[in-house]
Amino acid sequence: MNTPFSPNDLTAVIEADRAHLWHHLMQHKPLETNDPRIIVEGKGMRVWDATGKEHLDAVSGAVWTVNVGYGRERIAKAVYDQLVKMNYFANSAGSIPGSIFAEMLIEKMPGMSRVYYTNSGSEANEKAFKMVRQIAHKRHGGKKHKILYRDRDYHGSTLAAMSAGGQDERNAQYGPFAPGFVRVPHCMEYRAQWDLSGEEYGAKAADAIEETILREGPDTVGALCLEPVTAGGGVITPPEGYWPRVQEICRKYDVLLHIDEVVCGVGRTGTWFGYQHYGVEPDFVTMAKGVASGYAAIACMVTTEEVFAMFKDDASDPLNYFRDISTFGGCTAGPAAAIENMKIIEEEGLLENTTRMGERMLDNLHALAEKHAVIGDVRGKGLFLGAELVSDRTSKEPCAEKDVQAVVADCMAQGVIIGATNRSVPGFNNTLCFSPALIATADDIDEITQAVDKALTKVFG
Ligand SMILES: Cc1ncc(COP(=O)(O)O)c(C=O)c1O
Repeated sequence: MNTPFSPNDLTAVIEADRAHLWHHLMQHKPLETNDPRIIVEGKGMRVWDATGKEHLDAVSGAVWTVNVGYGRERIAKAVYDQLVKMNYFANSAGSIPGSIFAEMLIEKMPGMSRVYYTNSGSEANEKAFKMVRQIAHKRHGGKKHKILYRDRDYHGSTLAAMSAGGQDERNAQYGPFAPGFVRVPHCMEYRAQWDLSGEEYGAKAADAIEETILREGPDTVGALCLEPVTAGGGVITPPEGYWPRVQEICRKYDVLLHIDEVVCGVGRTGTWFGYQHYGVEPDFVTMAKGVASGYAAIACMVTTEEVFAMFKDDASDPLNYFRDISTFGGCTAGPAAAIENMKIIEEEGLLENTTRMGERMLDNLHALAEKHAVIGDVRGKGLFLGAELVSDRTSKEPCAEKDVQAVVADCMAQGVIIGATNRSVPGFNNTLCFSPALIATADDIDEITQAVDKALTKVFG
């Protein structure tokens, strides 16, 4: 760690944190006994806290974000150069990095055409929802306005995004939610809802979407919003045959397909976007976290020329344009960082590395599952993996959350930061989550799984 911290500095920082900060997803206690963890420096895969302790970060900034790793001077420099030249002008005007990054992005997304900048994943999803609603008004007399979302998926923290939220523990006490959002079943084969397997299971899980459309009335359903691989709801990879059938159903009923790539986007699963594994052609793609790896806040709502054309000049309708504003969508730091982020992924071959290291990690986790009966299932794509812990492999009874958290805490004590599903699906906060930066080496991967091995032995014997 380069930054010298005196004990006095540390005490002042901790006092300020305790006195004034409200951390996300954390239940603050009347008398906090543990010092808050304050991260002061990062380089590559590692971060250092204010006590000087080094950690290997296996979750890219806790929430699947820092795809190219910490301490990238090249990104910081690009952001600096851009900011001193031109930091901000609202999105009604263009910017040099905004245009360049939009073009780079669209090159990676055949079939897509237009990029709308905004600030967070939640907002990117809201923009797509608003477009769906506006299209319903313009084309279908307001009727085709319903948006389908899936059990266990998450699309953000704002109220409409939560209305499309399939994680009931996260949603509890925040209702009532916006009308017109309808839930479809999840597609997780490990927690099967139908007595089928493989492709048959995938087709059945997709058919459940068709049943919902028919039940609601196809003339009322405007869009379907799905994560390509579900993140916080349990790292759920789709079963074989799921996505092609989903696409077929959307086309059959003229339902727009919105894919939420906030986690999977920009390399996390070994392709630029998660949906590209499954040969799907979406109408909307939203992305945020890995777009600039957390070096600046940026999110994008990307759509097709066909959707864009619906909002073009129309003399008969003065309201026929997307009447949305995103103040910080005009910040230039985001696209400036995103350009370098994307170049780094290309120049360093990080998609290929993600595929290779993801396979290694999957193998390591499968080996751990042979040793530890508590691992009921291992899932993942690229460097986006999960291990579901169960107290009994036959009944698949989820492990107690306190034990799952004990594994996370033990890894932390060993200097490895891993994650676990939390505050998401009631009773199922039992999946360990791994999403190291795309630069991970074989040694990093082995260090992570060795720490998990030790922690599982300590907690479960
Ligand atoms: C799949 C998915 N969509 C949307 C979001 C919301 O993104 P943000 O927190 O940037 O609003 C998240 C955040 O974790 C997410 O995992």
